[in-house]
Amino acid sequence: MIFRIFLAAVMCAAGTMAVHAMEKEKPKLKQVIKPKYIAEEVNQRLSSFLEKNRKYVPKISEEVNAAVLKFLNNNKAFVDDVTDITHVQNDKDPKHPENNKLQIFYNDIKPKYDKELKNLSQWSFAIPVAVGDDKVLVRLSGPLHTRENFNTQRGAGWGENYTEDSLDNYLNEYGEANFQNISRFTNNIIARRAVAEKKLKNYYIPESFPIKIPWRQGPLISDKNYVVVEEFIPNTLPLGDPKAIETFTKEKIATLYDWMKAIPFWNIGENGSNIAVAQDGTIIPVDFEQPNNIAPSWFLDYPPRKFAHDIFAGAESLHKLLIQKGRTDLADEILSLVKDDLDKLVNDPHPQIIEAAWPEQYEADARKTYKQDKEIQKKMSEDEYVLRARNDAIRGNLTGYFLGELRKRK
Ligand SMILES: Nc1ncnc2c1ncn2[C@@H]1O[C@H](COP(=O)(O)OP(=O)(O)OP(=O)(O)O)[C@@H](O)[C@H]1O
Ligand SMILES: [Mg+2]
Repeated sequence: MIFRIFLAAVMCAAGTMAVHAMEKEKPKLKQVIKPKYIAEEVNQRLSSFLEKNRKYVPKISEEVNAAVLKFLNNNKAFVDDVTDITHVQNDKDPKHPENNKLQIFYNDIKPKYDKELKNLSQWSFAIPVAVGDDKVLVRLSGPLHTRENFNTQRGAGWGENYTEDSLDNYLNEYGEANFQNISRFTNNIIARRAVAEKKLKNYYIPESFPIKIPWRQGPLISDKNYVVVEEFIPNTLPLGDPKAIETFTKEKIATLYDWMKAIPFWNIGENGSNIAVAQDGTIIPVDFEQPNNIAPSWFLDYPPRKFAHDIFAGAESLHKLLIQKGRTDLADEILSLVKDDLDKLVNDPHPQIIEAAWPEQYEADARKTYKQDKEIQKKMSEDEYVLRARNDAIRGNLTGYFLGELRKRK
């Protein structure tokens, strides 16, 4: 093993510095976040997160550190290209998409780097770097994530274009603070903690650590200034591989669901590739880049309604994969567990979940419907009716998919 459990270096980084997929996220819920990024706030959040989780933070060895720094220094043009913020600008003339910088990056620039550096990631960068007989992965986000983070911040939809002006405004306000890639490191610690606290057997979490890009001046631990280095685990299969799924029982799939909820691990990826499985059946989660960090204001501060939404999104991706692979026994197990959780959540929803799923207008509409409907009035009181409508809205908003599946089961 290349990494060792540690602390001092990161705490020192967090203390002295201002701290700080592709699987795309399409938020379905009402936007209740007011993203106003303040560097010091994120700095403090990261410091106290690391303080609280000190025993789960890995230590990087001198050997790995030296190999990664050498890689970065030898591939300066690559690192600058990937973190270059101007790629996210769109050409002002929509009639000439060939001038669209983002498209040029993904059509021309990225494929060259993919080949040259043996990149493992479809939308981002996971570059294997040799360290003696072992390997580590050097991870960076790409400009696509950067752009979509900007879009989330400004309340725009996925893939929406924007101009130089809006980019300038964004930069003035947020100072290039993206945490999409850095979140791999913090979510890795959360994942490690979940395994320890839940005493889960047959899990291995590859160790992960941020390393500063030597020529960057900014102290912020952001995607612009740091790369994330991850332990490389050879000889694994994606969860979707029949040989990998074969190693799963109902009990094991229940621990996977339980573990996913703790993160939450919102998407197991195409063919389950975000969860690797070793030959002996050990579960090795590998893609920790999480949607709670699309907006800097969410970094390490997951809003409850988003948390709930993502738990069920992860369960949905797992359920779909199991059906696709013909494992209805395991899929049924997930469905039962989701049903229990959903009942708990509806009986005791967090205020932010209510705020997102049950806006005031819905309540007014429900009361109006009740007053107009003599048949409903005979069956229940107005308050009962409103509560029922609210619970339906919460269920539907968070788990539209599972409601359909549960109905099929009846
Ligand atoms: N730590 C690791 N050790 C060995 N192989 C890994 C590791 N992490 C990832 N891989 C391999 O690389 C593939 C791509 O990794 P990952 O899932 O992070 O990328 P991705 O989904 O393409 O990235 P993104 O969603 O950011 O664009 C994985 O499916 C897995 O096969
Ligand atoms: Mg992935």
